[in-house]
Amino acid sequence: MGRGWIEIKKTYVRDVFNVDAGCEAELLGWVDSFRVHGGVSFIFLRDSTGLIQVTLRKNEMGPLYDELVRILDREASIYVRGVVRLDERAPGGRELVARDVRVIGASKDFPIRKNVGPRFLLDNRHLYLRRPKPQAILRLREMVFKAAREWFGQEGYVEVQAPIFITAAVEGGATLFPVKYFGRTAYLSQSTQFYLEAAIYAFEKVYSIQPCFRAEKSRTRKHLTEFWHIEAEVAFATHDDIMKVEEELLYHITSRLVEWGRKELRILGREDFKPPEPPYPRIKYDEAVELVNSKGVRMEWGEDFGAEAERIISTSFEKPVFITGFPLETRAFYHMPDPDNPGVTLSSDLYAPEGMGELTTGGQRIHQLDLLLRRIKEEGLNVEDYKWYVDLRKYGSVPHSGFGLGVERLLRWVGKLEHIREATMFPRTPARVYP
Ligand code: 4AD
Ligand code: MG
Repeated sequence: MGRGWIEIKKTYVRDVFNVDAGCEAELLGWVDSFRVHGGVSFIFLRDSTGLIQVTLRKNEMGPLYDELVRILDREASIYVRGVVRLDERAPGGRELVARDVRVIGASKDFPIRKNVGPRFLLDNRHLYLRRPKPQAILRLREMVFKAAREWFGQEGYVEVQAPIFITAAVEGGATLFPVKYFGRTAYLSQSTQFYLEAAIYAFEKVYSIQPCFRAEKSRTRKHLTEFWHIEAEVAFATHDDIMKVEEELLYHITSRLVEWGRKELRILGREDFKPPEPPYPRIKYDEAVELVNSKGVRMEWGEDFGAEAERIISTSFEKPVFITGFPLETRAFYHMPDPDNPGVTLSSDLYAPEGMGELTTGGQRIHQLDLLLRRIKEEGLNVEDYKWYVDLRKYGSVPHSGFGLGVERLLRWVGKLEHIREATMFPRTPARVYP
């Protein structure tokens, strides 16, 4: 090219569709596909904003044409200078007639092709990411973060960051990842909840968006070992209050996805997705157990819902549904027992429709010192391990509630993805820490 990169006035593909025919444009991007028809060939050039047909003619380009035909291959990165031309046969009604084409980075036999299996795509995810489907999912993912921050911001929440190295389980010891920590054992955080509970004494309404880790050995379509967690905690809030927060947040995020992500939803075949308007139905745990049993899946009161039970509940409602009043034995120690029915907790799970299952868990926390100490002991845990957490109940404790929403679970539902691992750039599961 004979000029530095900085000097190139790159036109994005998107903008080629907004300039007048006859304009000259310089593009940088990748060869999405390349077809040769004798003296004419077509590059589909892709950049981060779209695809455009670039037409190369042997009679106009001379010897360069033959060289390009010999070396161009899918996914080579290229520079193109050309003239914008209207042509009804070209996708989008426009093409770029090439004056000059230079290969920046060659590519040969790009391995991502039609009909390769899911495992191959996971092994080659570093290359697969540039294809339309993962791109659409990751763009929606970015919108989830943006929309969540937008909503919390307008509602007066403060965003905080909690540590990832921790010393005691929030959600049970079975799924903790131990880490060697200078002669001690630390663990990777499962949830920022306890730290958010500390932060409400400063900010009242707080949230965090961070990765969380679970050593979930079960191989399911909805568990990752590393996932992103949107969590919130609110002072002076009851379980009912927090359910309202959850549904408003979910409605805001899904509305933004529909508004900002129309193209992406279309790529995923979800152009018909409708943001579910609150309020969402609320059913008691007992009713949910009955529903599951009535559909022929046996479960006892006091058990957690298994995959099949979750699917039944989740397909029985048009909108997301809250299941409230989980028994004490299904919940971690910090959940507030219902004063009217101490065998159950003031907590809920929010299930997505369409069989996708749990999106959030939330509820009211125990704010009384004595009760918290009793519950820690009843669960067979060591009070010493939770010393600072217990401390929060000694200095101006207040009733408070919070919840956690899994980003990948949300995307799996909205995108109707087969497997949760599609919802993140480089998924981590028991079988996969590469690439
Ligand atoms: O239901 P969980 O375990 O609840 C908590 O961690 C609470 N301490 C949150 C809180 O109140 N601040 O996790 C919350 C959500 C789940 O509903 C699910 O969406 C997601 O986090 N999640 C996972 N997502 C993917 N893979 C996993 N292994 C997940 N575990 C939980
Ligand atoms: Mg849960």
